Amino acid sequence: MEVVIVPDARAGGELIAEAMAQLLRRKPEALLGVATGSTPLPVYEALAAKVRAGAVDTSRARVAQLDEYVGLPSEHPESYRSVLRREVLEPLWIDPNSFLGPDGTAADVPTACAEYEWELAVAGGVDLQLLGIGTDGHIGFNEPGSSLASRTRIKTLTQQTRVDNARFFDGDVDQVPHHVITQGIGTILEAQHLVLLATGEGKADAVAATVEGPLAAICPASALQLHPHATVVVDEAAASRLKLADYYRHTFANKPVWQGL
Ligand code: PGA
Repeated sequence: MEVVIVPDARAGGELIAEAMAQLLRRKPEALLGVATGSTPLPVYEALAAKVRAGAVDTSRARVAQLDEYVGLPSEHPESYRSVLRREVLEPLWIDPNSFLGPDGTAADVPTACAEYEWELAVAGGVDLQLLGIGTDGHIGFNEPGSSLASRTRIKTLTQQTRVDNARFFDGDVDQVPHHVITQGIGTILEAQHLVLLATGEGKADAVAATVEGPLAAICPASALQLHPHATVVVDEAAASRLKLADYYRHTFANKPVWQGL
């Protein structure tokens, strides 16, 4: 796994947006796996600036959703379908019909999960999956204890995650759904390139467990250790508990330019 320490969230966003832009130049129909939450916003903003400047063409790009709340109508402003329409599809000028996501309103949730796995497979798989990380180490909504081989399925959110996400629901934790559909860890690991972005002191413990802790279901993000092309981009605060921080800095500073991210 490659760890890149950047000065701040904006620099992390720019670095990842440039990797996405390079992917889209190489493969205009690339399937981008996108994440919700506050952390990825600088990535989308930096990529949108490139789109507006004509530096990258997203007309054939496709987008796949990582997770979704169960039971929120898709037109609810906080359903991840709505959030991604607002934060990704519209600013990046991506065709709304090029969007893949699980149906959080399905009466038959297991079938909706299986259908989403099928859609991802038929689409040829995710080229680059952007990930955030929960304070508890979750990726997607794979909470601690999730099978490292899991597929798309229903999960119950931890109380911590519901409290963390209450800010999107008028600060009212009772409005945050208990259940979600999330790509499984096994599903996520099938993307060609995993890029996890973490910023802020609040993520420092989860980042240390992900990068330098044991591979263990207690920290779902540690599954990135199994992936042949995983990049962890962290700001100084999120990197503050990494034992090998100096080594990561040295490695990135001396990286051959042709390697890209
Ligand atoms: P955040 O969420 O980026 O809003 O902190 C991350 C996550 O829960 O995956």
